[in-house]
Amino acid sequence: MTLPVFHAPTPTDMRRSMGRFTTGVAVVSADDGTGNPCGMTISSLTSVSLEPPILLVSLTHGSRTTDAIAATSAFAVSILGSRQEALARRFATRGGARFEDMPVDHSRSGLPLIADALAQLECRVHAAHDIGDHRVFYGEVTDMRWRDGTGLAFYSGRFGDFHDFGHDELPWLY
Ligand SMILES: Cc1cc2nc3c(=O)[nH]c(=O)nc-3n(C[C@H](O)[C@H](O)[C@H](O)COP(=O)(O)O)c2cc1C
Repeated sequence: MTLPVFHAPTPTDMRRSMGRFTTGVAVVSADDGTGNPCGMTISSLTSVSLEPPILLVSLTHGSRTTDAIAATSAFAVSILGSRQEALARRFATRGGARFEDMPVDHSRSGLPLIADALAQLECRVHAAHDIGDHRVFYGEVTDMRWRDGTGLAFYSGRFGDFHDFGHDELPWLY
């Protein structure tokens, strides 16, 4: 199938074209400042720096989680495994239940985390920038743990799971 002609993007075009970039899926979570947990599904998780360890998440304005992180300067990230699609949907549903009636872990400083995630990271906000309709939080990772497993993937609006080609693991030279 050939590509159509170039055109300036609408928000829908932006979502559709960037949706061709396969990502993993995570839940970013925080304490809302009154002791209640909040969180949302994200695909905008990016590793930024190894030393110091910094990652970024890009969160829409007007979300409870965005406001909670801005208020507390702390957040947690749970990277989801392939069996956690239902949780990814739950944490992306406006007005729906989030941490109620499900297994929850806590970081050493007490932030809520998705139990049985592939990786759990705790971050302190290093910097934050309003960019367009999102706020980008850079988080310095202060604590983490991970396990082996198959990652939940997201491509073109659909969930799937990641299968490798069976080749050797890349030596990380850069
Ligand atoms: C796979 C997937 C990835 C998403 N990634 C992001 C993201 O990176 N940033 C964002 O602001 N919203 C993202 N969303 C949308 C939010 O999860 C959704 O709008 C959620 O309801 C926001 O939380 P709130 O209802 O508490 O505002 C994503 C949704 C899905 C299903």
